[in-house]
Amino acid sequence: MSKHAAADASDGAQRKILSAYDDPGTAEEISRRTFMANATLAIGGIVGLVLAVPIVGSLIPEGGKTQGTWSPLTADEFKSLQTATDTPVKLTFSFKAKDSYLPEQTLQQYVWGIKVDDSKFEAARPDLFKDGKSDLPYDVINMNFVIFSPICPHLGCQFLWSPDSKRFACPCHGSQFSLDGEHLAGPAPRGLDPLPLREQSGTAEVQWIRYKASVENRIVVSYT
Ligand code: FES
Repeated sequence: MSKHAAADASDGAQRKILSAYDDPGTAEEISRRTFMANATLAIGGIVGLVLAVPIVGSLIPEGGKTQGTWSPLTADEFKSLQTATDTPVKLTFSFKAKDSYLPEQTLQQYVWGIKVDDSKFEAARPDLFKDGKSDLPYDVINMNFVIFSPICPHLGCQFLWSPDSKRFACPCHGSQFSLDGEHLAGPAPRGLDPLPLREQSGTAEVQWIRYKASVENRIVVSYT
């Protein structure tokens, strides 16, 4: 074959290939292609939705949808709180928690309980009261007791009571708080966070709430 004949044959083949791509196809082929494209989009949408629901669900705090649950204190612990003087009482309790993917589990936590004089406490913690009323959606003082979350409002370490200095002291970055939970020193942006307490049929119950760290206002993060 001459050079010209070979070039002509190659051009012809290319034109055939191009014209095959250019061919829009029959009406039946077009409608099949449209159907396949729509079906692919629909399946992609369903898969995206199936993946998105648990992901979005895991980002919403479980307790954000409902109020927290009440956990009973043992009779002995409540008695030790009733006999408290100027020292806080560490109260341990169990509560049920459920993560998005994990089965319900029983967790143990502790809180600090103090006995207070209502008016003195309100004077020491103006950040918790507005016009003489609790600024939180629950009573901060109940039966002359206040319950504090053990989580430091700075970055979430658990602080301790120092009997020598008569202060709560955080071992992480040195924040200190008075017996009333007033912020005295260190980088914490607010005083200690009070938790709900109630008496139900002779049993004292507390509610666990986790507040956002490093901010001045109390923002609920979760009830677990
Ligand atoms: S976490 Fe308590 S002072 Fe930083």
